[in-house]
Amino acid sequence: MSNYHIKHLEEYFQVYRKAIRNPEGFWEEIAEEHFLWRKKWDKVLEWDFTKPEVKWFQGAKLNITENCIDRHLTIRRDKTAIIFEPNDPNEKAQHITYGELHEKVCKMANVLKENGIKKGDRVCIYLPMIPELAISVLACARIGAIHSVVFAGFSSSALATRINDSDCKLVLTSDGSYRGNKTIDLKGIVDTALDYCPDVETVLVAKRINSDITMKKGRDKWLAPLLKDASNDCPAEIMDAEDMLFILYTSGSTGKPKGMVHTCGGYMVFTAYTFKNIFQYKKDDVYWCTADIGWITGHSYIVYGPLANGATTVMFEGVPSYPDYGRFWEIVEKHKVNQFYTAPTAIRALAKENLEFVEKHDLSSLKVLGTVGEPINEDAWHWYNYNVGKNRSPIVDTWWQTETGGIMISPMPYVTPTIPTFATLPFIGVQPALMDENGNELEGNQVEGRLCIKFPWPSIARTIWGNHERYRDTYFSAYKNMYFTGDGASRDAVGYYRITGRVDDVIIVSGHNLGTAPIEDSINEHPAVAESAIVGFPHDIKGNALYGYVILKEAGEVREKDDLRKEINQQITEHIGPIAKLDKIQFVPGLPKTRSGKIMRRILRKIAGKDASDLGDISTLLNPEVVEEIKKNAL
Ligand code: PRX
Repeated sequence: MSNYHIKHLEEYFQVYRKAIRNPEGFWEEIAEEHFLWRKKWDKVLEWDFTKPEVKWFQGAKLNITENCIDRHLTIRRDKTAIIFEPNDPNEKAQHITYGELHEKVCKMANVLKENGIKKGDRVCIYLPMIPELAISVLACARIGAIHSVVFAGFSSSALATRINDSDCKLVLTSDGSYRGNKTIDLKGIVDTALDYCPDVETVLVAKRINSDITMKKGRDKWLAPLLKDASNDCPAEIMDAEDMLFILYTSGSTGKPKGMVHTCGGYMVFTAYTFKNIFQYKKDDVYWCTADIGWITGHSYIVYGPLANGATTVMFEGVPSYPDYGRFWEIVEKHKVNQFYTAPTAIRALAKENLEFVEKHDLSSLKVLGTVGEPINEDAWHWYNYNVGKNRSPIVDTWWQTETGGIMISPMPYVTPTIPTFATLPFIGVQPALMDENGNELEGNQVEGRLCIKFPWPSIARTIWGNHERYRDTYFSAYKNMYFTGDGASRDAVGYYRITGRVDDVIIVSGHNLGTAPIEDSINEHPAVAESAIVGFPHDIKGNALYGYVILKEAGEVREKDDLRKEINQQITEHIGPIAKLDKIQFVPGLPKTRSGKIMRRILRKIAGKDASDLGDISTLLNPEVVEEIKKNAL
């Protein structure tokens, strides 16, 4: 019997060693005993980080939806698979059983087929957190179409870039979405985007807010009548383990977003196995991850991981502050949530509010708390532990990335002793390494360096859509034979890992990955702007906020500076989305540059973070005089 469910620390160490000594043997055992394959693999693993190439379970045949839905039907047809909690607490929650989910996914899959979608076609899903989102993700997987979910907070231009990059033929959206007491005109955003996407043939529209929208003849169709008429029988397409399952875009250091590609077999095995252990999920538990399915956290730990384990997973449409700051805790009480997984930024925002919002709710169902997306600071950790977990629900601080597909470094609750701000130990099969700047591995404990992974794990992204070279350059060229994460980390005296943050040009704001380049590109398009540089600075709630240094074309720009600031932020909102807006904009005469013309962001970061007393040696800069000027006028 494989060690599918790890129960204590000794067992963790024993299984960890086993998986390192013989990765193929270990993963083969897990895959064989706990999943449904139409055909077994010919080879467990083939890899070469220099190409780079990774293949797990080659030759195996499966469909992930048979693992997430069909195989549960015999024993848990009537068990709730998804609890949908609407934005408005007065609207009734929906409980979708595994039986119903099967039917809904099959119908949606048939609608996609009737609209010309076949195996390998890309489908863009731009939907709010309503059941149709999870259902359409699964429907794509059912027929072997590659889903590309775009977070429904991205702007029309960000959406268009993503649709075109992967050449999606069909877009699924809704008339609009609710967000607290606001509504958002999603269909309008799609319409604008599609002016730039000539290859999209069909738009399927779910009705959510009953708004008056225009439907373009020949292109746009309401989803509901199509679903009503569709057959509920849709045999699963038999996929190769290495066939693509989905594309999910993430920001990079250069302008264009990277479409990370995940494949069927390894992704399924790793997300399911991590879910089981990192949340210690038991048969009748109710699990809730507050992320949006538009991000990897939602893909892996709202949809695929939980459903592959036959779990009950909550999908929440709303925001933590509506109708008041007690909403999360009200939902925990209402659905008796056992595992609760959220982002540090949400914890920090809620910790600022009156404690009564937490205290008036019965949170005794909680057994495990989780965090993801950014480092959690100590104060937030303690607040979460004490006020939400009442000191008896372990916190799992889970470190991972869109690229890793699943959780890589994390405690297992009731197994690994936790320490605030430490992601603790690598998950089974994960082999981290800390590297110094010269490319040497830092051996032993009490070291700090750049975080790499030495050996492939089953859910590593296989490529960047349409750009394998960029995949190699970004992740496999910095250190020989290693996957480079872009993060820094330290290892303490007992071997626990602590993530210190990004070491590249990605800034994490409220848990969202933002590349500096696309934001700078957007600012530079403003007619009054000559050049700009973005850095992050510490922010109480968001973790990091954005600070922009902007050089204007006309030094004596006559317009009010505040108007310009508004215009710049408006432009960013249009190009990327409101999440990328700048908190501070300083107009500067120049940017500190090296003699080769590279912007010295280190200096700008220090000034933005009000830590400019020691800027190091700036005499080698091309323009050292500009630094004083920037410092003097810092915001
Ligand atoms: O910097 C790390 C940070 O988030 C980055 C990955 O972002 P993304 O691909 O959007 O995926 C987020 C959800 C998995 C990482 O490179 N990060 C993620 N989790 C943690 C974290 N930083 C510190 N602690 C974490 N637990």
